[in-house]
Amino acid sequence: MSLLFSPFTFGPITIPNRVVVAPMCQYSANDGCASDWHLAHLMQLGTSGAGLVVVEATAVERRGRISHGDLGLYSDDNEAALGRVLGAARRVAGPTTRFGIQIGHAGRKASTQAPWDGGGPLKGHEDPWPVVAPSALPFDDHYPVPATLDAAGLEHIVAAFAETARRAARIGFDVVEVHAAHGYLLHQFLSPLSNHRDDAFGGTADNRRRFPLQVLQAVRTALPATVALGIRISATDWVDGGLTVADSAAFVAAAREAGADYVCVSSGGLVPHVRIPTAPGYQVPFAAEIRATTGMATRAVGLIAAADQAEAILTAGHADMIALARAFLDDPRWAWHAADRLGATLERAPQYQRAAAALWPGAKLSRPQDFV
Ligand SMILES: Cc1cc2nc3c(=O)[nH]c(=O)nc-3n(C[C@H](O)[C@H](O)[C@H](O)COP(=O)(O)O)c2cc1C
Repeated sequence: MSLLFSPFTFGPITIPNRVVVAPMCQYSANDGCASDWHLAHLMQLGTSGAGLVVVEATAVERRGRISHGDLGLYSDDNEAALGRVLGAARRVAGPTTRFGIQIGHAGRKASTQAPWDGGGPLKGHEDPWPVVAPSALPFDDHYPVPATLDAAGLEHIVAAFAETARRAARIGFDVVEVHAAHGYLLHQFLSPLSNHRDDAFGGTADNRRRFPLQVLQAVRTALPATVALGIRISATDWVDGGLTVADSAAFVAAAREAGADYVCVSSGGLVPHVRIPTAPGYQVPFAAEIRATTGMATRAVGLIAAADQAEAILTAGHADMIALARAFLDDPRWAWHAADRLGATLERAPQYQRAAAALWPGAKLSRPQDFV
């Protein structure tokens, strides 16, 4: 009996299996509006068999976009465009598939190029915009110096998160995930490396957590009780003087109090030039520690690509759900093949049933060694 393919409940939501498509920016939106690329991408992932598909980092305000191509949910046009895409993805997805959306603000890492254009800060002729952050500390030497957010600026962003959450609920998302990882605005508040404030939002760990927790509370209040609230964190900054896993566990405990139903444990992204010892499942120990200390429903992520590996993480009690990003870009049928491998049953669309391994001997020839 596979744990990966057993249902899991967090907050008001039950997902049919613990396979989650991680949020992945597509840099293909137009002033925040989802495009035909999103339609194809999310309809495909909707039929993947994953229990939960989380839509990419979606900006709560225009200047909070990482790049010109970021998805946003700050206007009626954005809401209509994403509503069209979500509606179509739902119509082709299995009836128990759940859809989430990650909402965030890039802070000092806003106004950058798409990765395939270099990924650096936008140049003068590329229509850059002014960026904001907890403190006037740029991400790197050649990045713009952010304006320090004042009290009115903070209130404005809390309200933008709440408004985006309301829009997400209105178009029918089951889950809203607040992005507090990868060096974006909320992470910038949490880490002493990027937050040098001397007011109630900086200094002590409690003060640095205050703004992200206010955002979480506002989002929880804005959402109907039927929508689950998650949070994604970077458990460590991977540098001396930065956030540690113990700091992150304390934040997750407070986030739980503020109404979060799960945490996805990632790492890094706050400062450049950091050496991260990546290896299969390298972030799983952080998830395990946070799950053990806080009791929060926990999602592991990061270089998890094999079915057996995912199953073993759950069996060991290191996490409750597994998110995969690149594995799903490479193979949108990852979940079907993993289910075959683990001897689990996974409903697939009737149109595609004849490709099931049990019905088609060619499956053994066409799949990676791990799955046969
Ligand atoms: C194309 C791409 C876009 C990504 N965009 C996001 C994003 O929008 N939000 C986020 O939290 N992480 C983002 N990530 C990170 C992934 O969600 C994931 O944490 C990371 O890729 C590690 O998982 P993997 O080894 O399964 O790919 C992105 C990763 C990729 C490859």
